[in-house]
Amino acid sequence: MSFPAEFLEEIRTRLRVSEVVGKRLRLVRKGREFLGVCPFHNDTKPSLSIVDEKNFYHCFACGAHGDIVTFTMEMEGLSFLEAVEKLADQAGLEVPRQTPEAREREVARKTLGDAMEAACKFYEDVLWSPQGRAGLDYLLGRGLSEQTIRHFRLGYATDNRTALRQAMSVKGIETSMLLEAGLIRKPEDRDETYDYFRGRVLFPITDRRGRVIAFGGRTLGDGQPKYLNSPDTPLFHKGRVLYGLAQARESASKQGEVIVAEGYMDVIALAQGGFPNAVAPLGTALTEDQITELWRLSPEPMVCFDGDAAGQKAAARAADRALPILKPGHSLRFVSLPPGEDPDDLLKRGGAKAMRDLLQAATGMADFIWDQELRAHPLDTPERQADFMRRARGRVRDIADKTVQEAYGDSMERRIREMRDAGRGSRSAPGRFGKPVFERPAPRASATARARVSTVLGHRQQQSVVAAIVTHPDLMEEFGEALGYLQFDDPFLDKLRQDILENVPSDQGLDAAGLKNHLLRLGYSEDCDGLLGPATLGHAAFARPDASLEQARAGVLELLARMGKHQLEEQLADAQHAVTVEFNEANWNRLASLRAALAAVNSGSSLEDAV
Ligand code: UTP
Ligand code: MN
Repeated sequence: MSFPAEFLEEIRTRLRVSEVVGKRLRLVRKGREFLGVCPFHNDTKPSLSIVDEKNFYHCFACGAHGDIVTFTMEMEGLSFLEAVEKLADQAGLEVPRQTPEAREREVARKTLGDAMEAACKFYEDVLWSPQGRAGLDYLLGRGLSEQTIRHFRLGYATDNRTALRQAMSVKGIETSMLLEAGLIRKPEDRDETYDYFRGRVLFPITDRRGRVIAFGGRTLGDGQPKYLNSPDTPLFHKGRVLYGLAQARESASKQGEVIVAEGYMDVIALAQGGFPNAVAPLGTALTEDQITELWRLSPEPMVCFDGDAAGQKAAARAADRALPILKPGHSLRFVSLPPGEDPDDLLKRGGAKAMRDLLQAATGMADFIWDQELRAHPLDTPERQADFMRRARGRVRDIADKTVQEAYGDSMERRIREMRDAGRGSRSAPGRFGKPVFERPAPRASATARARVSTVLGHRQQQSVVAAIVTHPDLMEEFGEALGYLQFDDPFLDKLRQDILENVPSDQGLDAAGLKNHLLRLGYSEDCDGLLGPATLGHAAFARPDASLEQARAGVLELLARMGKHQLEEQLADAQHAVTVEFNEANWNRLASLRAALAAVNSGSSLEDAV
């Protein structure tokens, strides 16, 4: 949906930029200008400048630039539409609706929404009253603090069959509305209704803006079913909602990371344990809608399901759902919890540290799929090996996006080649390492290194490095070597990295136009599939085409130094191991150049000087 230009203009005249930004940051006035510490990069100095008459903010350090709408989108992880709605609200303006039907839907939504809100408030009040003692004791007994219970607005439904209906009728909420909201039921053959939730602690389920649209209720004991969810209603479609999204959204989009847990209690325990960026589907496999929603918060949501068979099966199903809809830069990562533990247990046992360690060791999508196929059947005969290769290649064909499919194809073929080489190696020297042919390879060192990169550098920073090189190919002379060692966890960036390496010979210079031509011929778009769009360049002045080579160099050097170190260290350990297993020239050269590269990064000098 779009808005009339005058409407946006009206919002802009009513809300000053300094007012909107000032809600989030401390601003200091300096004449016509306001200054604050920029939230878009890591800084302590006030480099964000706002001049209200100009209607925008600008950061002199990172180049972030925009108006009240982009600011609200970025800070709160909202879509354009949602940001405008929120600002309109602040400005006291009514959002224009396009059609009378849409308008009617909005009104209907509100009234049903009002019933849900009233019910939520009622159940909350009950929990904190003497009648709710059993529920409160249960929640406290599971280790939740009072603050957490209030934050998630948990409630309690007593055993009484009419408590809700009676309380609601006092508020003027009609029985028909409660029926439509799924809060009460009416048996076919009888007139009287009964409350749907009884004798359960209740978890309000909200939409992404925090409006209550349904409930999940847990028995206090071993009753069945353990969880009872609201039926689907006009407000609530189970497969489209993520539990905890409203609470998680801000921190998730700020960190660029979101954890997908299995259930209500996991989300809440994670939030209380220092991971407020967690959400969960509602007892079903992740749907495409949910995956798309997750991608709005983070390019690579981390699926963190229980270590038991059911949890692992659910993770596999999430991978199946995501594979066809992968996009450049968007994927899933997988964290496997120790068998028999859920995040709640893990946090109680090992605290936030245990959880953080686990998240760092997350497996990428390609590794996950590969491992899955590898484990599916034994590989002890040529026919089974052939079947394995067929299945692995089949998975690649599930990917609809051509660029991603290509990158996966390359990666799978490389793995298959490596595996066959390993097989041949041990055949020619039987029993040399005592390894059976086609043994499951040890986890690749890079899997952990890659995960770490994402914590050292945000996705955007990784994009900025590549963007700077696309706009300043002269940098390849200096950073080509380093780029060769790096592994981005974003398949699109990694593919682009390789394409650049293959197309910019480091001995003969290639200018930006020349490189762009190469990339265009390889099928990239004019703005390199969005990489050179405002989303990246708006945050990285040094990567813009008009930045000087010196600026670009300084930006890349700083980021590479941060990103490269972990990866280089990891690879160095790998190379050291390779040399002890087989001392040959190739292994030795690799070790030597890695040592030199690491030394260069450590001293902060350019790689060229040291290698
Ligand atoms: P779990 O049993 O792992 O949930 O089921 P949990 O949140 O960890 O529960 P406890 O309180 O620690 O035992 C995962 C999710 O599956 C759905 C719920 O959404 C639950 O959070 N579920 C589970 C149901 O919908 N119905 C059930 O009977 C059980
Ligand atoms: Mn559990």
